[in-house]
Amino acid sequence: MTHSVTIEPIGEQIDVEEDQTILQAALRQGVWLPFACGHGTCGTCKVQVVDGDVDVGDASPFALMDVERDEGKVLACCATVESDVTIEADIDVDPDFEGYPVEDYTATVTEITDLSPTIKGLHLKLDRPMTFQAGQYINLELPGVDGPRAFSLANPPSQADEVELHVRLVPGGAATTYIHEQLQPGDELNLSGPYGQFFVRDSQPGDLIFIAGGSGLSSPQSMILDLLERNDGRQITLFQGARNVPELYNRDLFETLARDHDNFTYIPALNDADNDPDWKGFKGFVHEAAKEHYESRFAGNKAYLCGPPPMIDAAITALMQGRLFERDIFMEKFLTAA
Ligand code: FES
Repeated sequence: MTHSVTIEPIGEQIDVEEDQTILQAALRQGVWLPFACGHGTCGTCKVQVVDGDVDVGDASPFALMDVERDEGKVLACCATVESDVTIEADIDVDPDFEGYPVEDYTATVTEITDLSPTIKGLHLKLDRPMTFQAGQYINLELPGVDGPRAFSLANPPSQADEVELHVRLVPGGAATTYIHEQLQPGDELNLSGPYGQFFVRDSQPGDLIFIAGGSGLSSPQSMILDLLERNDGRQITLFQGARNVPELYNRDLFETLARDHDNFTYIPALNDADNDPDWKGFKGFVHEAAKEHYESRFAGNKAYLCGPPPMIDAAITALMQGRLFERDIFMEKFLTAA
């Protein structure tokens, strides 16, 4: 049975199947609602039920307190509807968000490469093209692994029937261990997407600084390939952080892009290069490389950060000390798929 849900204050109406959550239905119909964890623990997707009957589902009492339940609040990622419903959501849609609907896809593994000692490049062929914005992510299902895992797309949107992912092995992590040890070319996987609010704000002026660490290079790679393909005229600078040379992956790709495009600069930084006498590049953390390059003056730029939380925190501090404001900094709160 299908019910309609009206989302205020935007006045959008969506159809919600009996077994769908409000969030699933909204994303699949191209209507963005705020969310993060997707399974009832963070509270980001809290909405107010104004009218109609809703089953709150499996919401954690920490994410949705009893007093909030009594006030008619629900978590959109857990709640199913039992009648036509009106909800009120705190929606602040970015004008640059294109809002492509989430769909399900079947994908065939075409190639698995060793990008670094700990990161594999996973290439999949989709059963049909996926429209997405560079920087977004997919949810991948793996055999024997409970629940989907989020991975950022590394390919640009022009390669719409392919998926490239960078997968770091998380010790003890069921999904990344499966990908590193068992997955084979020819295997079929199910995935859904696109998800996420990490994308280049084309309407906002300013040159672009990308700061990436570890397998967090995937989103910036997609965004930079897309910008260069679109002949975007802004200056683009990528700071890529890694521990040592073996962990600094896709270096050839970015060195080639920097040679071929006057508006692209590539600066790798190694924080553990002492055993590598041949390393002539920056030694230190990636945010320190950015500080040195810009002489700690970032004003007028927009920064896009993707990597592990300590890298993001250090980069934000450096950028704000160098006169960027919150509105100038965009980040992928790192999706540590295990
Ligand atoms: Fe985290 Fe719904 S998205 S609780």
